[in-house]
Amino acid sequence: MYDFLRDPRFVGIEKFKSKVWLSSPTMHGTEQKWVDEAIQTNWVSTVGQNINVVEQEMASYLGCKYAVGLSCGTSALHLATKLAGERLYGIARANEGTLAGKRVFCSDVTFDASINPIAYEGGEAVFIDTEADTWNMDPYSLEEAFKLYPDVRLIVVAHLYGAPGKMEEIKAIADAHNALIVEDAAESLGAKYKFGDEWVETGTLGHYNAISFNGNKIITGSAGGLFLSDSKEDADKVRKWSTQSREAAPWYQHEEIGYNYRMSNIIAGIIRGQIPYLDEHIKQKRAIYERYKEGLKDLPMSMNPYDARKSIPNFWLSCLLINSDAMAHHVRGEQDELWAHEPGKSSPGEILQAMTAFGAEGRPIWKPMHMQPIYRMHAFVTAEGNGRGRSNAYTAGGGIDVGSDIFKRGLCLPSDNKMTVEQQDRVIEIIHRCFDKVC
Ligand SMILES: Cc1ncc(COP(=O)(O)O)c(C=O)c1O
Repeated sequence: MYDFLRDPRFVGIEKFKSKVWLSSPTMHGTEQKWVDEAIQTNWVSTVGQNINVVEQEMASYLGCKYAVGLSCGTSALHLATKLAGERLYGIARANEGTLAGKRVFCSDVTFDASINPIAYEGGEAVFIDTEADTWNMDPYSLEEAFKLYPDVRLIVVAHLYGAPGKMEEIKAIADAHNALIVEDAAESLGAKYKFGDEWVETGTLGHYNAISFNGNKIITGSAGGLFLSDSKEDADKVRKWSTQSREAAPWYQHEEIGYNYRMSNIIAGIIRGQIPYLDEHIKQKRAIYERYKEGLKDLPMSMNPYDARKSIPNFWLSCLLINSDAMAHHVRGEQDELWAHEPGKSSPGEILQAMTAFGAEGRPIWKPMHMQPIYRMHAFVTAEGNGRGRSNAYTAGGGIDVGSDIFKRGLCLPSDNKMTVEQQDRVIEIIHRCFDKVC
């Protein structure tokens, strides 16, 4: 590995004494009280007051009628996707998914937990390219996808890094094609979107919605997630499926396939203690984003974008995107990479490794799903239509692919809300030095 500490460009920069994290849990002490209470009252189970309170408080914060506490965001997305599949295509046999043989349109630059539930249910994900304004699903490419696959009836949409996607356009397209939406708001809890004249919370914009309390999220229970809905029937079904689909009989009786997906009352205790701090965490994350924006403004790069007219992100992760003409050589294989320093230029590979050398954690942009080995044979639709097979031995270029361009030129910056101003200034200085003209 390259020795940044001996590189003359970095003279005078000290290593961080303690690691600066990408996004780690921020505890406040109140969490302990609810965990202790659960233990003292012996509600150490998937039943208990902490779960009830988390469900009630989050439903009220988000402005939806029902929240169901689950083991994680992935389980919430799985049951949301299954509900959609059942509504669209009917009840599946016990050994078959509700989406068997069906295509589903979905976000491309997202974490794979958004997409995998489609496969759990036997469906086939079709990836929709990303737009440059918010780094989320491109409505124009979605329209193109309906031209290619007019039978599709389900869309899974995620909001990347806490910035809401173009939901008004996406919903209009979904309505025009009689399609349902599963909304993955795992990363965007507390982000707001202006729908018509009304500001609404992400996590309430789809027909079936999910959020996550994973350890790196804006508030956390170490794990945990919620299914969100205005339908009592849907909420009841999810609660039933998540507790092994038990029927009201004196013995274990099952008419449907079940899952062990319910939230633990201990984990709910941590989440209960975190909820009062959600707005404070968002404020801290926003301040981090603004400080990066200011500190990096002289460099050939931009921050992860959002639509200020239509949305207020939760600023979960701050990211940067290097201008194309300031990109130094950087190639990635399947599991390794090679970068070269070029004076006045840099690359995500160089910046991430420089930050690591000094003790700060960044991360590459989530690798687009259409580029992942597991999904490489799945369809990918861009603003030009079919996004596969566009390269040609005889002509230059390979077609539009916004997601892979963001992956190539972008990176996630340390965005921990406990990062001090001094630490962040040092991260900013490291990035500046990467672009030094001295070689
Ligand atoms: C976009 C997205 N969807 C889903 C998940 C899954 O949530 P969980 O880890 O709680 O299962 C995550 C993160 O973990 C995520 O970032």
